[in-house]
Amino acid sequence: LVAWKKSVIHTTTTLDLANQSCPIYLGTNIYAATKLLRAHIVGHQVMVVTQEKIAEWYLDSLRKALAEYQCDIIFLPEGEQYKTLLQWQKIMDYLLEKNHERATTLIALGGGVVGDITGFAAACYQRGVNYIQIPTTLIAQVDAAIGGKTGVNHASGKNMIGAFHQPQCVITDITVLDTLPQREYIAGLAEIIKYGLIADAKFFAWLEQHIAALLARDKNVLLQAIHTCIHHKVAIVKQDAHDIGIRNILNFGHTFGHALETIGSYESLLHGEAVAIGMLLAAKLSARLNWITVTDSERIEQLLCAAGLLQTLEFPPAADFLRLMRQDKKVLGGKLNLILLKTIGQAFKTSVTEQEIGLVLEKYC
Ligand SMILES: NC(=O)c1ccc[n+]([C@@H]2O[C@H](COP(=O)([O-])OP(=O)(O)OC[C@H]3O[C@@H](n4cnc5c(N)ncnc54)[C@H](O)[C@@H]3O)[C@@H](O)[C@H]2O)c1
Repeated sequence: LVAWKKSVIHTTTTLDLANQSCPIYLGTNIYAATKLLRAHIVGHQVMVVTQEKIAEWYLDSLRKALAEYQCDIIFLPEGEQYKTLLQWQKIMDYLLEKNHERATTLIALGGGVVGDITGFAAACYQRGVNYIQIPTTLIAQVDAAIGGKTGVNHASGKNMIGAFHQPQCVITDITVLDTLPQREYIAGLAEIIKYGLIADAKFFAWLEQHIAALLARDKNVLLQAIHTCIHHKVAIVKQDAHDIGIRNILNFGHTFGHALETIGSYESLLHGEAVAIGMLLAAKLSARLNWITVTDSERIEQLLCAAGLLQTLEFPPAADFLRLMRQDKKVLGGKLNLILLKTIGQAFKTSVTEQEIGLVLEKYC
């Protein structure tokens, strides 16, 4: 059990959209703060969606904080391979079995997998109910829990079934990261580095200076890094909640990464590890097309390596890689739509011929 200490909210960043406002609280010991939860729950029912391992550490405190509500708990199996319609169906069945009404609130206590499935269940149950995100991995804290993209995977590709549905709030507590295994933590650093690459050259340079402190989980450095990422994610989603324009830049490295994840059946590489390799390939392609300099592409490679990423560089044959990239949802008119870098700190969408991509892939595969 985690000893309960004083709750401190360090920053609140609000994602204001046309018809909803979603505060993102960043703090320490806030994941089970009764006042905070109560402020975002309207009915008398809640359902916590989590995983056994996470529950061991955090569920008791959360349950206590929710004592005044009908509080049902559902456990999902661990792993990306379980981000499926079957798990979504189980949540639906349980909500119906426990007579949850339209005023119910789902609470996602977990990483991106729990958050994405829970959000999708909330989007669909009785045509949409409220939900709260309590992200417990670094990836979920800096990315997945913010912005209302929800969904599940299909055998033929990642996140192929889903909906946009904003949470009532996001409660981001860095103390829950204490139990996160180092490999998962490092995978989260990939998404942090992504923000430096796509939106903030100064942050990228700051990361180069502070990567050792981040790896050592220095709390102040971590708070600063997470806050910067939340700031960027909110700024991007505010402009394009439905991912038809600028929000696409958040997919930097992801088309390559998704292909790698699909090849490994979501089992060999963690999402962040696949994205890190994807970002490296996208950076090399950006340099090949004379957008960024070769020196910049080397800086990117060095930072990813210093973060402990790029350890697993087992590439599939280039032809398989390309085939899976073609299946990804960012394919239009024979060319592949990709997010590349104009400079470090500025990403843009472009279409690239398969031949150009193939040349970069062949060098690594
Ligand atoms: N919706 C979005 O906008 C968005 C953005 C980025 C990523 N994603 C999705 O997020 C998923 C990846 O998320 P993830 O990396 O958090 O994976 P995950 O949810 O599978 O969590 C990784 C592992 O860490 C464990 N874990 C979680 N919190 C823990 C804690 N505090 N202590 C100990 N163990 C803990 C989990 O049980 C799991 O085994 C992918 O499915 C990806 O598509 C979604």
